[in-house]
Amino acid sequence: MSVHIVILAAGQGTRMKSKLPKVLHPLAGTPLVQHVVDTAQQLGGDITLVVGHGAEAVKAQFAEQPVRFVTQAEQLGTGHAVAQALPCIKDDQRVLILYADVPLIEANALLPLLSGERAEGLTLFTASLNDPTGYGRVVREHNAITAIVEQKDATPEQLRIKEINTGIMSVPGQWLQQALPRLDNSNAQQEYYLTDLVAMAVADGLVVNGVEADDLIATQGVNNRVQLAALEREYQRRRVESLMLQGVTVIDPARLDLRGTVTTGTDNVIDVNVILDNVSLGSNVTIGANCIIRHSHIADGAVILDNTLIEESHVGPNANVGPFARLRPGTALAAKAKVGNFVEIKKSQIGEGAKVNHLTYVGDATVGAGANIGAGTITCNYDGVNKYRTRIGDGAFIGSNSTLIAPVSIGDGGYVGAGSVISKDAPAQQLTLARAKQLTLAKWQRPTKKDA
Ligand code: UD1
Ligand code: CA
Repeated sequence: MSVHIVILAAGQGTRMKSKLPKVLHPLAGTPLVQHVVDTAQQLGGDITLVVGHGAEAVKAQFAEQPVRFVTQAEQLGTGHAVAQALPCIKDDQRVLILYADVPLIEANALLPLLSGERAEGLTLFTASLNDPTGYGRVVREHNAITAIVEQKDATPEQLRIKEINTGIMSVPGQWLQQALPRLDNSNAQQEYYLTDLVAMAVADGLVVNGVEADDLIATQGVNNRVQLAALEREYQRRRVESLMLQGVTVIDPARLDLRGTVTTGTDNVIDVNVILDNVSLGSNVTIGANCIIRHSHIADGAVILDNTLIEESHVGPNANVGPFARLRPGTALAAKAKVGNFVEIKKSQIGEGAKVNHLTYVGDATVGAGANIGAGTITCNYDGVNKYRTRIGDGAFIGSNSTLIAPVSIGDGGYVGAGSVISKDAPAQQLTLARAKQLTLAKWQRPTKKDA
């Protein structure tokens, strides 16, 4: 039996008090709804996303992904939302309903809802919470599930029930087709509740099963920013723990944030207040305090010192970066290259063992192996209209406070005197100076104060 996963993402998320649709709020840098779609993709089958509030923005998130959309023009409730997907659902499909605001649910936990023996009935994913406030309660008689009652419709006695509806259920397609049109909205919120399907299934003689979640955190929904932050923390705690178990020393697990895909070798050490966002780390890497690294690769033995920002860059083996360095997109440091404090590098290749130690801007440049760029060197790569490249040869030496006006090249082993303004190519192996000659005026006298 094939599976059709319907993800509800049309609600406004009033309780977020935000212009951004709730399901686009990020958790670990990724929109809530994307987490749920990723999980659905792991399970396989058709995926239909019900969009409504902020539909265009939600669709844009999935521009390049195999997801089908249906629109719920008015948000009349979760049952009404699923009904919008009915034309896409085949009778012989098993329909799994997920909520875009329950982001941490994992594919493995959902497998029991799709297993063969439950194919004919309705299976509900439930959880037992110490504080069930806000959730729909699972009502049982003689242990059999008979209904779900929403918080706002519950009697004081029902409010004491600790077993809650996670919102996730699986239903046979054929039955869903004829059941959803029978929902009504005679309840406290005047909404078409998906949860009313449960009592309807019982009345129709369907088998109604409950699968209780082991992992309570993973079933939690995000309705406001307090819950969002709580889930973020828990998610981070788990991811960082998994990183440590892969052989990384993390000085304070509460002060490392991992976003997107982070892969690692072993024996890396990460100091406090670090963000790694889509990063691959080799082994024996050291990352100092307050570093942010995004979309980058850091090779074996590299050392990233405190307060460094690295984006879309490649740091080679045993290279050394920081403190207070900034590598902008398109930077590649070869093995043992060194980039020191207050240096900015953009779209440049820095050769093996080359040194750019202090207070320098290198943009659109190629720096050869073993070159040494003195403090305060600036590549002038932009004339206000176009960008040009600078080429610095292997073993070249650029004296401090030099200005290299691109397009320009310095030959291998070329030597540029400190304070030069280089606007023409400088040859290999020779000293090039481009600065005013120093002179001392022999007859000069210090001015004196005129008498008043
Ligand atoms: C829902 C359940 C509740 C459950 C809880 C779990 C119902 C009636 N209640 O309540 O039993 O314990 O989730 O988190 O189903 N949505 C739409 N269209 C709509 C309304 C909602 O697409 O018209 C989407 C929302 O974007 C969201 C999801 O459905 O992703 C849940 O909606 P929400 O309003 O948050 O429901 P809860 O009150 O949390
Ligand atoms: Ca919710």
